[in-house]
Amino acid sequence: MPRNYLHILDMTREEAHAALKRAKVLKEGDVRTKLLDGKTVILIFEKASTRTRVSFEIGVRHLGGQTVFLTQHESQLGRNEPLKDTARVLSRYADALVVRTFGQEKLETLVKWGSIPVVNALTDQHHPCQVMSDVLAMYERTPDLPSLKVGWVGDGNNMAHSWIESAQLFGFELVLACPAGYTPDPGILAAAKAAGARVTLTADPAAAARDADYLTTDVWASMGQESEQQRREVAFEGYQLNSRLLSLAKPGCKVMHCLPAHRGEEISEEVFEMNADMIFDEAENRLHMQKAILEWVFEAL
Ligand code: CP
Ligand code: NVA
Repeated sequence: MPRNYLHILDMTREEAHAALKRAKVLKEGDVRTKLLDGKTVILIFEKASTRTRVSFEIGVRHLGGQTVFLTQHESQLGRNEPLKDTARVLSRYADALVVRTFGQEKLETLVKWGSIPVVNALTDQHHPCQVMSDVLAMYERTPDLPSLKVGWVGDGNNMAHSWIESAQLFGFELVLACPAGYTPDPGILAAAKAAGARVTLTADPAAAARDADYLTTDVWASMGQESEQQRREVAFEGYQLNSRLLSLAKPGCKVMHCLPAHRGEEISEEVFEMNADMIFDEAENRLHMQKAILEWVFEAL
């Protein structure tokens, strides 16, 4: 059975900690290996991407492998060839799939019908590679993760779900402030709480910000929700990470953002630029963390 990385909880607590430590070593030593020598990773992207695509393309090369990049526009995916057929074909050519798509069930179909590992490069439900990279950025500054309070202010979206699952694995406290109608999947929240995660949901951004060590947010309208932009701007009023909200946090609190950012919406220009060191570390960490995730996928970690 190949190892798949569809969401944060595909790794055990021990594996996730090992991946974090390994990513730090890969980063600090600018490590290149031959793990993927002679291997090909196919990237299937049905949504736009700058960071994820480029960091995977380069990360695979750092491990000695090569990539093929595919979108629905120039492949038969856009002409309704069944995913289960695509999975069986690509499994005969390549060694892993890295996939950015809409529903999580599409990844599950690729896993069910294919025979090579599948890595989630963002779905509507999860963005595990990003949140692991964000956790690495916190870990580099404050290795005692269970001592931290992290506040999420904004949409209960794919990023929020991966943050909830990472709170379960890494033991930090997570307070999510989301407006009514835009809260995270209750099943994901309930499962994390049942597993002992210290996760709280509120509608009050101040509750998330108060005494936080780290604050994080994401766009109000994710990819695929462009037509909801105006409605969401109304619903998310008051959910901006700005200096007023930041004044409630612990002194030295760092603000995170997975990027791309919409200044003046979920984050103010001032708060963004004050935290640029953290935010661009998160972006850089995509490269290092995904190399560690690929090592785990190929059972070298
Ligand atoms: N954060 C992130 O996934 O960025 P891209 O959409 O540019 O890949
Ligand atoms: N929630 C955002 C994350 C982008 C990296 C989206 O899905 O568009």
